[in-house]
Amino acid sequence: MPKSEVKTSLLDNMIGVGDSVLLEPLTEDTFLENLKNRFDHSEIYTYIGSVVISVNPYRHLPIYTPEKVEEYRNRNFYELSPHIYALADEAYRSLRDQDKDQCILITGESGAGKTEASKLVMSYVAAVCGKGAEVNQVKEQLLQSNPVLEAFGNAKTMRNDNSSRFGKYMDIEFDFKGDPLGGVISNYLLEKSRVVKQPRGERNFHIFYQLLSGGSEDLLKQLKLEREFNQYNYLGLDSAKVNGVDDAANFRTVKNAMQIVGFLDDEVVLVLEVVAAVLKLGNIEFKPESRVNGLDESRIQDKNELKEICELLGQDQAVLERAFSFRTVEAKQEKVSTTLNVAQAYYARDALAKNLYNRLFTWLVNRINESIKAQTKVRKKVMGVLDIYGFEIFENNSFEQFIINYCNEKLQQIFIELTLKEEQEEYIKEGIEWTHIEYFNNAIICELIENNTNGILAMLDEECLRPGTVTDETFLEKLNQVCAVHERFESRMSKSSRFLNDTTLPHNCFRIQHYAGKVMYHVEGFVDKNNDLLYRDLSQAMWKTNHVLVKSLFPEGNPAKMSLKRPPTAGSQFKASVATLMKNLQTKNPNYIRCIKPNDQKAPHVFAEGLVCHQVRYLGLMENVRVRRAGYAFKQPYESCLERYKMLCSQTWPHWRQGSRDGVKVLLTELQIPPEEFSYGRSKIFIRNPRTLFELEDLRKRRLEDLATLIQKIYRGWKCRTNFLLMKKSQIIISAWTKRHFQRKKYLQLKRVTLIIQSYIRGWKARKLLRELKHQKRCEESATTIAAYWRGFQARRELKRLKEEARRKHAVAVIWAYWLGLKVRREYRKFFRANAGKKIYEFTIQRIMQKYFLELKKKLPSMSPTEKTWPPRPYLFLDDTHTELKRIFHLWRCKKYRDQFTEQKKAIFEEKLEASELFKDKKALYTNSVQQPFQGDYLEISKNPKYQKLNGAVEENIVLADVVNKINRANGKGAPRIFLLTQSNFILADQKSGQIKSTIPVNDITSVSVSKQTDGLFAVHLKEGSTAAAKGDFLFTSDRLIEIITKLYRTIFFKTNQKINVEINNEFLVQFNQDKVCVKFIQGAQKNGNLPTCKRKNNRLLEVTVP
Ligand SMILES: Nc1ncnc2c1ncn2[C@@H]1O[C@H](COP(=O)(O)OP(=O)(O)O)[C@@H](O)[C@H]1O
Ligand SMILES: [Mg+2]
Repeated sequence: MPKSEVKTSLLDNMIGVGDSVLLEPLTEDTFLENLKNRFDHSEIYTYIGSVVISVNPYRHLPIYTPEKVEEYRNRNFYELSPHIYALADEAYRSLRDQDKDQCILITGESGAGKTEASKLVMSYVAAVCGKGAEVNQVKEQLLQSNPVLEAFGNAKTMRNDNSSRFGKYMDIEFDFKGDPLGGVISNYLLEKSRVVKQPRGERNFHIFYQLLSGGSEDLLKQLKLEREFNQYNYLGLDSAKVNGVDDAANFRTVKNAMQIVGFLDDEVVLVLEVVAAVLKLGNIEFKPESRVNGLDESRIQDKNELKEICELLGQDQAVLERAFSFRTVEAKQEKVSTTLNVAQAYYARDALAKNLYNRLFTWLVNRINESIKAQTKVRKKVMGVLDIYGFEIFENNSFEQFIINYCNEKLQQIFIELTLKEEQEEYIKEGIEWTHIEYFNNAIICELIENNTNGILAMLDEECLRPGTVTDETFLEKLNQVCAVHERFESRMSKSSRFLNDTTLPHNCFRIQHYAGKVMYHVEGFVDKNNDLLYRDLSQAMWKTNHVLVKSLFPEGNPAKMSLKRPPTAGSQFKASVATLMKNLQTKNPNYIRCIKPNDQKAPHVFAEGLVCHQVRYLGLMENVRVRRAGYAFKQPYESCLERYKMLCSQTWPHWRQGSRDGVKVLLTELQIPPEEFSYGRSKIFIRNPRTLFELEDLRKRRLEDLATLIQKIYRGWKCRTNFLLMKKSQIIISAWTKRHFQRKKYLQLKRVTLIIQSYIRGWKARKLLRELKHQKRCEESATTIAAYWRGFQARRELKRLKEEARRKHAVAVIWAYWLGLKVRREYRKFFRANAGKKIYEFTIQRIMQKYFLELKKKLPSMSPTEKTWPPRPYLFLDDTHTELKRIFHLWRCKKYRDQFTEQKKAIFEEKLEASELFKDKKALYTNSVQQPFQGDYLEISKNPKYQKLNGAVEENIVLADVVNKINRANGKGAPRIFLLTQSNFILADQKSGQIKSTIPVNDITSVSVSKQTDGLFAVHLKEGSTAAAKGDFLFTSDRLIEIITKLYRTIFFKTNQKINVEINNEFLVQFNQDKVCVKFIQGAQKNGNLPTCKRKNNRLLEVTVP
């Protein structure tokens, strides 16, 4: 079923008509116009039915992309716009799916794009067929065979920069899945004359230029080659470089391709050695040398080149040299050697070069075949691609053109046969009545050339084999005799005098009316080229080389296998291979690509109508179209036809439920198309006139517009309605939701209100109930309370009554007792004294007091004055007494304590007390002194004989005697002195001798200064103006500072009844001589024991460092 939604259908958006069969009216002009129109719009492909016409665009078109490949993959031939891919796809699919071997026949003149087309087909097939490592390698080898063959078989010509100079037929083999297995290449007639000579403006085969440009220095040296082209006679000078062709790069490509195809490195070298040898052969030159017998013999001019060739090919130089000088003819055990003249020598040289190259090329093809041949023996499906030289009509046509054109005649023959046969078969298959169409059958021309008895080729062979002098002229004569009456043969000298006066036909020519036009052939060279003679001496010489490849190229040179039979002529060889080819092609389903060259300048965008017209004629394209149209212009399966046109009939639109054939019948009847315009085949409808098809197309287009409008209308209506329905639905939903919302709100409000009321009522009820319950409870409680009260009341009443009763009983008892007492007292009054009560009372008190004191005596606390305890008081009324007793006891206790003291001990305590008043909490040293007993006379002067003298000097009692450190007023250093204090003086004496140094009356002492710290330094300030004060105040240090100062203080007080001032400060002033010096105490590190160190800093400062 064709896909109706395909965008680029053959019939849609087409430029001109994609299929020329549909041209209306069909004339050569309209046909050309159509081609031109399409060409101008970059549509280079046009169909004639299933034949593809390809016009060479001479520029790159973006229509060979992988996307395009995908687009055409698995699509029907007419589904998309014309393309070579459509043909390739059709061929590949019928090969794969219908198991039909295919051949793709590509024809057209040189430069028309045949080789490109063949490559496109191959690359398309490679792209769409199976994948996988093995398959890819096969594909790659098949594709890479092209560059190798092109390098050796293509050359730049006037018509084409990359013209194939050989015919090529390649069978690509596939397995049942359509995966490529391998291939076989057949080559036809390499144009070997090009090796030795090229027409002006053309080149030799590419490989020579590629080798010289791209070969490395080493390689060239190895091959004994120079890089310059002009060193070689065989390389045409005028067009050695081709624009846009990089020979060096191509050489690398070729070498790479050879590697991929499977050439070994050694093989590549062998091949290049042969190429080099051919090139160097051209440089061998001959000069004439006269012999005695008057004949000219040739000699090699410069043997250097010959030597190098022999080195290259591993050849004995003498052998080759001889082969260039002699020709041996063998006939029946007889060998005749003749010398060669210069011309013959050149002929021999060129023949060798041509043969060497030609055989190398054939070897290459075989070698490639060996690599790419299918490895399996399973049955293969085959797709053949034929890229063969096209019809050639030059000014000067020779044997090659004759052969080429013969080949084209054969192809045309097969084209006609297969096309018509196929067409005819289809009509029969479809049951359509078939009227024979007249067309030109070129079988008659093929006959003229290939007939075995009187064909031109047979005649040529006959001439070549005939003994006696054979020339091209004798051959022409023969033709003139045999073919004169043939309607397609023309010659000036032929028996029929038709052409006697035809001046366009020279005498040494004959003309054949080919199907593609008349071609005039010059007979010159026919015999030679057909003979294709290589002197036996040369082939034998070649066989003798050590070069494995060259040796294998000349098997006939082997004397053991030498035969006297002539080798088959070029013509008969070609005829045979063409016959094989034709046979091969006939077994396959043909697909045609007919290439057209739009201009001779290889220029893009130029469409030379004359040139194209000529090709259209000789390719027989018009005939092709006519044949195609003779029956029916257009055929289509019923399904596709119905699908495409069903909208034109109300019964088939939009759906036809019955068979599509009936559908088409109904459709065509309703459209009132005349019945002679179409026929109903079994599976296809056949339309005779293209106009009918176009009418149908027009109707379809208009109907499509209507349908579009209808669709638009319905769509719009549908859209509005859908929209409306949607809106309606939405509105309903919205209103439903709104209503729901409000209802819900109302309901909730009601519910809330109800709840409130309900709760109030319930609350009220509950409270009522609670009240009742409470009332009930209270009632119960009240009853209990009342009962309790009542019982309490009764109990109390009972208690009161009982108490009353008891009181009464007691009162009765008391009264009774009083009464009894009274009675007793009255009775016993006479026995008691009047004051007995007072006495009893006093006695009782006495007893109590006695007991109290005795108890107290037992419990008295200790005698320590510091004891605070006192036993508790036993009776309240003794409170005052008890306290007083405590006070008295304490006083007594203290007195007792005091009474123990001696006078001396008392004084010490007084001193201690005094010291405490002076220093406690004022000077840190004080705490140390608390434990020390104040001994006073530490030196025991009176007893110590050492101090006898001193003792004598002191009249009074000694209060204190000790050794102190007197501080030197000038430098602060200390010196030990005896410090002696009496009741009125204090004396300083030398410690050792006891010599008195100074005596100071205590009245002269005004005050004493000490620090707050632990040091023992003190200053004794003296009354100003006194004799003692001449030198100034004294500074001492002593550990017994507290004792010394206390004693000094007390002594002065006893003496003068005045208290001296004791200044306690960390900074105080002393008077030294005339100066007032500040004594400053600072905290310092411990140095020599606990003693402070004094330092006189300056006149004003004495620093004392206290540890
Ligand atoms: N389809 C194409 N697209 C672009 N260029 C093309 C195409 N076909 C041919 N050519 C150009 O034309 C030249 C000649 O084509 P070629 O196939 O070698 O001709 P032929 O084999 O018929 O002698 C190519 O080298 C290429 O430049
Ligand atoms: Mg080609």
